[in-house]
Amino acid sequence: MIAKETKEKIIETARIEEVVGDFVQLKKRGTSLIGLCPFHNEKTPSFNVSVTKGIFKCFGCGKGGDSLQFIMDHEKYSYPEALKYLAAKYHIEFEETEHSPEQLIADNNRESLYIISAWAGKFFQNSMWETEEGKNIGLSYFRERGFRDEIIKKFELGYSPDEWDALIKQATTESYKEEFILESGLAIRNDKAKLYDRFRGRVMFPIHNFTGRIIGFGGRTLKSDKNIPKYVNSPESDIYHKSNVLYGLFHAKKAIRDEDNCYLVEGYADVLSVHQAGVENVVASSGTSLTIEQIRLIGRFTKNVSILYDGDDAGIKASLRGLDMILEEGLNVKIVLFQDGQDPDSYVQRFGSAAFKTYIAENSQDFILFKTSILLKDAGNDPIKRAGVIREVVESIAKIPDNIKASVFARECSSLMQIEERVLISELNKMRLGKQKKASQSPAPQQFETPLYPDVLVEPYTDSDEWQEKEIVRLLLTYGHELVQWDGITDTYIAPYVIANLSDVTFEHQICLKIIEAYKTGLEKGHLPTEQDFIRSPDHEVAQMAISLVSSPYLLSENWYAKRKIFVRNEKENMRVTILGGIFHLKKRKVEHILRNIMDEIQNEPDHDNQSILMQRYMRVKEVEKGISTYLGSVILK
Ligand code: UTP
Ligand code: MN
Repeated sequence: MIAKETKEKIIETARIEEVVGDFVQLKKRGTSLIGLCPFHNEKTPSFNVSVTKGIFKCFGCGKGGDSLQFIMDHEKYSYPEALKYLAAKYHIEFEETEHSPEQLIADNNRESLYIISAWAGKFFQNSMWETEEGKNIGLSYFRERGFRDEIIKKFELGYSPDEWDALIKQATTESYKEEFILESGLAIRNDKAKLYDRFRGRVMFPIHNFTGRIIGFGGRTLKSDKNIPKYVNSPESDIYHKSNVLYGLFHAKKAIRDEDNCYLVEGYADVLSVHQAGVENVVASSGTSLTIEQIRLIGRFTKNVSILYDGDDAGIKASLRGLDMILEEGLNVKIVLFQDGQDPDSYVQRFGSAAFKTYIAENSQDFILFKTSILLKDAGNDPIKRAGVIREVVESIAKIPDNIKASVFARECSSLMQIEERVLISELNKMRLGKQKKASQSPAPQQFETPLYPDVLVEPYTDSDEWQEKEIVRLLLTYGHELVQWDGITDTYIAPYVIANLSDVTFEHQICLKIIEAYKTGLEKGHLPTEQDFIRSPDHEVAQMAISLVSSPYLLSENWYAKRKIFVRNEKENMRVTILGGIFHLKKRKVEHILRNIMDEIQNEPDHDNQSILMQRYMRVKEVEKGISTYLGSVILK
């Protein structure tokens, strides 16, 4: 259990721009910050962060919430996990009543996997620093490879004892459940149903997610036996999905953002050596070929990737095509090639940090130009092969979403290939046309070209009063606590005024109704509810609606106002008109409904006398409607 005060303290301390900023590059626009939504794929930013309100809202996919909600959605954390994350971020002491290991494990599956992984990390570290075997074999191996203690500790490297069940024994003694030892992949069950350790006699590299929690391990053998796999890795689990993890990202993310560039290497050892050399913006794809998720992960921090390659020509050629997907994500890709059997690790260990930095600076080439020259070299003078090269290069260029950038590449590549630029551009256009056709045949992923207020927020044609009801709630949330002089003399709060004037109106939209009721009860008790009360409401639906409403400048489209000749450039300019407009539009709508209902009744009423009674009622209500319209006309249109 988490103490209530702690929860409140965490929520109060968390700054939305900092919490979101760890995952999304935010830029200032007006009073809010905007960025590319991390919850759906988009090219133009529709993701808004309001610093003053403490909330985020995406106008593309509709997701919204406060810091806590962001972490829950983004990291797929449970509520307590998200609280813990924020507590750690803001160094807030986390008071949790003591749990036995069993209870902790029972908490929930994912949390249990995190716990056992963290425990195993400590176990491996302990085995390396505190046991003779660990010191003599594991630690001395790392030191001999040139890793300083400080980096060994920073990356929490460790050692797994060369026994069949060292970890299992210890975990069992400490009451960790077999179920989670197995599920985390730390142990394997043999055909005689006996458990044995997955990692034995290996140096251990814990893999962190980018919030710094251990989710898996890579273990390198120290034996030269060719029959033993060099690396053994944790299997996929509920917390470890290889395709969206980059080794070292947790330790690199700040530097990546600061440098606005990310170095991508192949192995654990490369990350460690390069990081140790003071180039901290480095991550590894860890042996697997790069996935689109990994690219998007990088893309959240920077648009510039430099791939440090240590392959031979054949290997490089094979991986070139895979790189096109980085272009598609709109990232700028550079290549740094290491030759003569060097890799980033061996280079920096041998020549030192300064030489390494110089090497990178002098040898980074743009990916497309690099690809062109490699392919050209391969094709030699064979005209058919050269034609193939043109096609491949154009294919890459066509993937660049930015037209200006693409045309710059077209020019440079045409001179490299010694063909006329116009030939290349015409190829490029052909390919793009083909791509568009394909895209229009299959349902294209939704694009949000006008990012800020797409149609979802604009009044649709509907028979319900939902939009008018929501508009009132929005006005209440946004301005409820502000003062207005209704009579030109005395200041009155907006919320009580609105609520009092709506006593005869029945809200149909259930969530609007809840909010209106909350205002009523609050006001009866002498308390004026605020926007924040609703944004942080434990009622998820209420919170979501509050967030959507306060994030939009006005719910009804400008068109809607324009049709009624209402000028809404700045609704705060004339608060009285804004509020009265909201109230009377809703009333008008309600009255129109009543009129329609009476009309229906009249048409279905066979009895003539009854019909005329209904008719009279209709006329009375019609008078009310006229009154409202006239009032709206005189007050609002002035
Ligand atoms: P490397 O063989 O280059 O490993 O494989 P390394 O990290 O540079 O190790 P050293 O320098 O020989 O000590 C690159 C990456 O591929 C993955 C690992 O993530 C490794 O870091 N790999 C490699 C495996 O997963 N399994 C293997 O058997 C080999
Ligand atoms: Mn290596």
